[in-house]
Amino acid sequence: MRRIAVFTSGGDAPGMNACIRAVVRTGSSKGLHIFGIRRGYQGMIEGEIQRLENKNVRNIIHRGGTILKTARSMDFMTKEGREAAFESLQAHDIEGVIAIGGNGTFTGAKVFSEEFDIPFIGIPGTIDNDLAGTDYTIGFDTAVNTAVDAIDKIRDTADSHNRIFFIEVMGRHSGYIGLYTGIASGASGVLIPETTSDTDSLIKVLSKAFKRKKLFSLVVVAEGDETGGAMKVAKAVQERFPELETKVTIIGHLQRGGSPTVNDRMLASRLGQAGVEALINGRRNEMVGIVNNQVSFTPFGESISVEKKPGKDLIALSEILALG
Ligand code: F6P
Repeated sequence: MRRIAVFTSGGDAPGMNACIRAVVRTGSSKGLHIFGIRRGYQGMIEGEIQRLENKNVRNIIHRGGTILKTARSMDFMTKEGREAAFESLQAHDIEGVIAIGGNGTFTGAKVFSEEFDIPFIGIPGTIDNDLAGTDYTIGFDTAVNTAVDAIDKIRDTADSHNRIFFIEVMGRHSGYIGLYTGIASGASGVLIPETTSDTDSLIKVLSKAFKRKKLFSLVVVAEGDETGGAMKVAKAVQERFPELETKVTIIGHLQRGGSPTVNDRMLASRLGQAGVEALINGRRNEMVGIVNNQVSFTPFGESISVEKKPGKDLIALSEILALG
């Protein structure tokens, strides 16, 4: 294998740049020619492919976002779109591809590599941490640190005014961000899609806290929670306690940007290296992850279909620690 391409796809995640850098520099050190595809699958279809050399990835390890840009491509879902993508790869004699992204990215990679017989290696890059086959995904640690930093600030003002804050964090289908943020920020309640979130139980917890003279509270709500988000939960609690003041903060896309943490830079660098080595060693159509500090491979089919959920032990811990 002499020529490989790398792209980022789906929602961006802090650490993607560190991973691109690791792919380019590992590849160069092994004598490969590395190409960057801009704007994910859409750029592949439209032939936005250019050579990436070591010098092109200078000064990016600390930057959030992705220098290759990203997109969610509808055209790639059609056979014609995938044919055009394959032609673009052939025009540059690309022999293997590294896809940095999440579930949707690997679903596309699986279909494509089966149709056109070109090896793909996936690298988990999403703040959601919802991919089976890796303990953590690139971007998750930074996103949680951003959310916790925001909540530490909210805590100051919540305390001063004796208010209940409902803070919505990202995670369309996954409660990892919510759970880790809730535990690390000392929240009185954490509502995530993996648990049956019961507004009545939350109200009980909050009213007990008030009886104990705990006059302010922080509740973390994952955007994908079945209650419908922080606004709805706040409304239900406000109706039950009209005498209390409730406030809502939606942290939103703040969690997707910013300089990656050391954990994300390390993870991205290790996975970038492992991805290139995997292609060289003839591996294909697998996601590379880190499990128990060891590089590990999971077939795309499994990483897409197996639902990764936060452990019951962590959910129980968040409940115990909320009882302050
Ligand atoms: O998958 C990552 C993620 O940030 C989710 O947590 C969130 O629901 C979604 O992307 C938001 O997507 P977009 O930026 O396209 O609105």
